[in-house]
Amino acid sequence: MSDAAHTDNDSHEGPIRTPKQLVVTVVAAFVLPVVIIIMLINFVASDTKPAAGSEGLSAEAVARRIAPVGVSEFKDPGDVKSMKTGEQVFQAQCAACHNTGAAGAPKLGDEAAWSARIKTGLDALLGSSLKGKGNMPPQGGGDHSDFEIARAVVFMANKSGAKFDEPKPPAAAASAAAAK
Ligand code: HEC
Repeated sequence: MSDAAHTDNDSHEGPIRTPKQLVVTVVAAFVLPVVIIIMLINFVASDTKPAAGSEGLSAEAVARRIAPVGVSEFKDPGDVKSMKTGEQVFQAQCAACHNTGAAGAPKLGDEAAWSARIKTGLDALLGSSLKGKGNMPPQGGGDHSDFEIARAVVFMANKSGAKFDEPKPPAAAASAAAAK
């Protein structure tokens, strides 16, 4: 208490000594909390805002993420050119199991595994492919026209010892039936 630089009067004064300091203090005491509140609000609301440069929350991206899995598109059954060949369907949809033998699937080209199945006839094989059998989901889990699946079955069976005819496109089959 015997500090020479401070008189008794000095030690009772606060940090605010001039009217200017008072004004600055009052403004700061009012403005700072407001700024902090605004920043907090921004922080809390930020989880609905996309990150800079990200389109992950755009309406389109969200719609794609929550789209139902089994969307069916209308395919013109007579439009053979737009349909996939048996080989294309096989590579896209069936190869995962039927090239590797995964899940116990008979492998492409494995005549021993296929011969008994082939004897049941194309209709039976096609029925299993469309409805599913054992570990195989309907259509192998795909979304193809029945005709495309039939082509894939014929492709696979013929590579594995069968001699099935290439299936007729539905329109041709219908007009062939009508011509009879
Ligand atoms: C998830 C794996 C998987 C996929 C994908 C898959 N299959 Fe299979 N497939 C199997 C299994 C397993 C079997 C044997 C089923 C049984 O006999 O129990 C099988 C059997 C078959 C058979 C013989 C059916 C019978 O009656 O003996 C045919 C034909 C066939 N698949 C066609 C296809 C075609 C065509 C596709 C593609 C469109 C396909 N599979 C995709 C697993 C699969």
